[in-house]
Amino acid sequence: MTGTAATSPLNSELAARKETMHVPVMVSEVLDGLSLRPGGVYVDATLGLGGHTEAILSRCPEVKMILGLDCDTETLEQAESRLALFGDKVRFVHSNFIHLHDVLLFNRIGQVDGVLMDLGISSFHLENSRRGFSFSRDEPLDMRMDSSAPGAVTAADMVNKLPVKRLTELIQTYGEERWAKRIAKRIYDRRRTAPILTSAELAKVVANSIPRKYHPRRIHPATRTFQALRIAVNRELDDLKDALDSLPSCLKSEGRLCIISFHSLEDRLVKIAFREDNRLKPLTKKPLVPDPEEMHSNPRARSAKLRIAQCIEPDDL
Ligand SMILES: C[S@@+](CC[C@H](N)C(=O)[O-])C[C@H]1O[C@@H](n2cnc3c(N)ncnc32)[C@H](O)[C@@H]1O
Repeated sequence: MTGTAATSPLNSELAARKETMHVPVMVSEVLDGLSLRPGGVYVDATLGLGGHTEAILSRCPEVKMILGLDCDTETLEQAESRLALFGDKVRFVHSNFIHLHDVLLFNRIGQVDGVLMDLGISSFHLENSRRGFSFSRDEPLDMRMDSSAPGAVTAADMVNKLPVKRLTELIQTYGEERWAKRIAKRIYDRRRTAPILTSAELAKVVANSIPRKYHPRRIHPATRTFQALRIAVNRELDDLKDALDSLPSCLKSEGRLCIISFHSLEDRLVKIAFREDNRLKPLTKKPLVPDPEEMHSNPRARSAKLRIAQCIEPDDL
């Protein structure tokens, strides 16, 4: 069968690209959750590589516009080329989602019909950004999603400068890592001789801090520490809290807010905000999770939790 379309170099290239491409999670649940309507205006507040936006416009081409935000310029460039076929239906904005209210004002858009947030990083960050997000690569230990912010703290700054106590707390809280104290102490010992500058150096220090017999079986021993540093560097929980305060005022009455989180602390913030904010009515009592097939085919989906809320008419309050 040589020479068939299935084995051509172009197809192999496309297949290889697809393998490393970010696969959007819980697409059909998100599309239903947003309750798409013709003429509607939506915000993809974490545009990433545009997977969800592409799915929205394919499901409902009559949507008037999607405003796509991302705090990472490299990511935005890729989304722009992927979504070019949708023309000016998608507007691309380099911004942190905490500024959504101002972004809408600046773009002369009033309240919108729905906002999607798919939190965290994309597979581009792990595999191609060269910013040290992954313990399985040797790259500068940066981990900033938005590297345009002048003077923003990097992961290398944190591991080489934070006091051991603070480092321990951070790894314990954001990484839910039981070996946090040992890891922080080993990092401290190591940095007294030479700073830790790359992801591979850090991964090695962390792996050596945990007794071999306690190495987790399914994940790399540095997974939790890397996650903790990424959350801290990008102030992910602070930004989510700020966004949860300001987003409801960006929605029309009956507008939908869909949030996919990957960390128990994030999901807790979303759950509490949906329950306690009287501008919102939660539509999911418990978070939705991917079906077993999706969990099997997309390992990143395994920890995903989707919560959906609807904006309430002021009269209903
Ligand atoms: C999980 S990815 C989104 C993937 C996207 N749904 C897709 O299907 O391609 C999350 C994206 O949100 C961006 N991001 C994370 N925090 C952000 C924030 N506070 N403001 C704006 N963008 C943010 C990241 O740069 C990343 O590209």
